[in-house]
Amino acid sequence: MRVIQSCALFFTVLTLLSGCSSAPDHSRSQSRVTPAAITSAAIASAHPLATQAGMDVLANGGNAFDAAVAVAASLGVVEPYSAGLGGGGFWLLYNAAGDEYRFLDARETAPAAAGHDYFLNADGSVNRDKAVNGPTAAAIPGQPAAFAYIAEHFGRLPLTQTLQAAIRQARDGFAISDEYREMANYRLHMLQRYPDTAAVFLDDNQIPDTGFVLTQPGLADTLEAIARQGADGFYRGAVAEELLASVRAAGGDWSAADLHDYRVRERRPVHVRYGDLQVISAPPPSSGGIALVEMLNMLSHFQWQSLDTIRQTHLLTEIMRRAYYDRAEFLGDPDFVEVPASDLMSEARAQHWVSSIDMTRATPSLSLNGPKNIDEGFHTTHLSVLDQDGNMVSATLSINLPFGSAFTAGSTGVLLNNEMDDFSASPGSPNAYGLTGSHANAIQPGKRPLSSMTPTIVSSSEQTAILGTPGGSRIITMVMLGMLEHLQGKAVSDWVSRPRFHHQYLPDLLQHEPDTFTDQEKIALTRMGHRLKNTGRRYGNMQAILWDHRTGQVTAAADPRGIGQAEVRP
Ligand code: DON
Repeated sequence: MRVIQSCALFFTVLTLLSGCSSAPDHSRSQSRVTPAAITSAAIASAHPLATQAGMDVLANGGNAFDAAVAVAASLGVVEPYSAGLGGGGFWLLYNAAGDEYRFLDARETAPAAAGHDYFLNADGSVNRDKAVNGPTAAAIPGQPAAFAYIAEHFGRLPLTQTLQAAIRQARDGFAISDEYREMANYRLHMLQRYPDTAAVFLDDNQIPDTGFVLTQPGLADTLEAIARQGADGFYRGAVAEELLASVRAAGGDWSAADLHDYRVRERRPVHVRYGDLQVISAPPPSSGGIALVEMLNMLSHFQWQSLDTIRQTHLLTEIMRRAYYDRAEFLGDPDFVEVPASDLMSEARAQHWVSSIDMTRATPSLSLNGPKNIDEGFHTTHLSVLDQDGNMVSATLSINLPFGSAFTAGSTGVLLNNEMDDFSASPGSPNAYGLTGSHANAIQPGKRPLSSMTPTIVSSSEQTAILGTPGGSRIITMVMLGMLEHLQGKAVSDWVSRPRFHHQYLPDLLQHEPDTFTDQEKIALTRMGHRLKNTGRRYGNMQAILWDHRTGQVTAAADPRGIGQAEVRP
């Protein structure tokens, strides 16, 4: 990756830092601070029981990586609509001892049976049911492999210990929340369609009442198999056989080799320096890091902080539009397509895009310089962890839509993802998030679907921020808005609660939460040519930690939109 050279404006504007230096291409932090400066450990996650599971692991001698496994495993049980063994995700790790950032790509892979026309009907249209529901929508899970990889390479404790809380929560049950009911309601018909799913996640085929104790004995057994045997407990043996049998019986097409061959990939994170500040984020097959850096590079050309809300929103929208154009056009799994990462993150690209921004008018998306026809929700979860040695984890994990594919793989109790819908099933045909894509993100056997998940760490010699969120295509813009709050010196609680807006190139809409803009602002933005769309509900579930190196103080916050919990423990 080429490091961006021209960044002085960004920082003079932010008045946080000055100067801009180029840096070599590696992922050392170069702004190491004494770990002794930390006064506390912190965990922010989307569920109090998961945060607790992680805190217990820290208290029992585990490091941030062990705690992150415990949190993720627990989320897979108590937030079954978000992430779990049947899904995958991205783990950005900072290993304090080696002063290095590592990035684990545990994204799901397309089964060998899935080619580029896998979801196409005879007339060339996309079979949306097949792409979103049931085992055909499910790619090969990466989460169990991630647990085993982290335990082997980064953790101090065995999986028998770090998965213990999740196993207990699955076996003994947990009381379901209103949020669970809301997610189940969103997918009720599909939960009812698959009997193994209805048996676990519904009560007499209906949404359970708040407080209902939901047990998952099959999932507890599968977690135990992973605790005992690592990745083999899932990808081989009895669990694998049951996964294959149940998937095939319901019309899916996984093979034993698809499971055996699944591997976590270590990738070089996107790591860009702006003077003293470093932004470390997710590389392809996530679009998050590249899009984030593109947006920051464009922003560095403007005195954005001195603009009024209307013009600031307009500018950010235009920047989002352009970064998402590049997402749709160029990004996919780097093992299958050439991703022009350094060009996209270059100053030349930023200048190209900035020159097309009119500060008085919205640019219609389809007028952007590029292909006119591209030729060719909720849920997911984020966790942020910091331990007292300065190790850090920023991980975004997913099964895609709420309750994923809604298909539970027989007695394994594993609810499978529907990440196959993150591929571009056909050029120009939108997925569940309205995203379109090019051949770069077409389906191929073994390929990983393009993601928006953006686990991020922002670090300077003075402070380090760990943040991320679920939210489908809106993840990247949420992370950027949260990060801009941080760069303006606001408290971590402000980053996670900030009212949100989003533009993703197509559809050509400025999406916003109900309370983001005043009526006056809406009128002004509409006059500038923006088509506003109220999302009708607030979105995202950001989990963030701030470590101030100067004081050693650690603060953390969970998004008030969710039921998560951030805990800082001395
Ligand atoms: O990887 C992606 O971009 C999506 N599968 C993430 C889905 C998501 O965040 C849903 N959350 N609300």
